[in-house]
Amino acid sequence: MKQPIRPNMSYLNCFQKALHTLLDAALKQHQNQTTGGNEGRKAVLEKVTQRLAVNHVIQPEVGAENPLADLLPELALTTRTFPESLHALAEGVLGLADQLPWYHRPVANNPIFMKNHINAQIMGPEGLVVRDDLIVGVTLMRPNVDYPDHQHEPEELYLVLSQGLWRQENGPWGTPGLGGLVYNPSNVFHGMKSVDAPLFALWCLPLDKAFTSFSAPLPTA
Ligand SMILES: [Fe+2]
Repeated sequence: MKQPIRPNMSYLNCFQKALHTLLDAALKQHQNQTTGGNEGRKAVLEKVTQRLAVNHVIQPEVGAENPLADLLPELALTTRTFPESLHALAEGVLGLADQLPWYHRPVANNPIFMKNHINAQIMGPEGLVVRDDLIVGVTLMRPNVDYPDHQHEPEELYLVLSQGLWRQENGPWGTPGLGGLVYNPSNVFHGMKSVDAPLFALWCLPLDKAFTSFSAPLPTA
């Protein structure tokens, strides 16, 4: 009988610690601000950092084929040029890539997206680390692909690890840049797209509300 591959704990520990450190630093920046504002983003940062501090069980049998695995060597090279503060995080994710439960987000009427993106829960109900209070996921996309606008009840925090464009409610596209955070309030429509390089991003959703997600179909006319 084929034995499941045990996750490389050093990559997992490296990833968890690096993510906690980055988000905790962002939270401290908020707490030091005297001007206020961004209360929703601050509240999500608090929830995610608190929950990341608690370990959960690992499910070593969740690994699935990644049809975009050919992007990983390029991403590994690119991440070496990242600011020092992002090295451990990116290396942790890429080190775990062979053991993640990769899946396609089902979106009707959009074969280009379906072929050129892949997601995985690193932590979450379907994750390598099983927990029902938090999802930490990863998305990879080939260059020049649109991730369709979508919405969901849980708030969300993206941590951006590549070039790429993000928007909310059909607003202007913005470039968070390496290490940038994007906060999506509950049920806001949001989308992203890759530019001339692969897109690599993490997303964190505290699961205080049911996670059912709606994606806008492409116009058919
Ligand atoms: Fe989302």
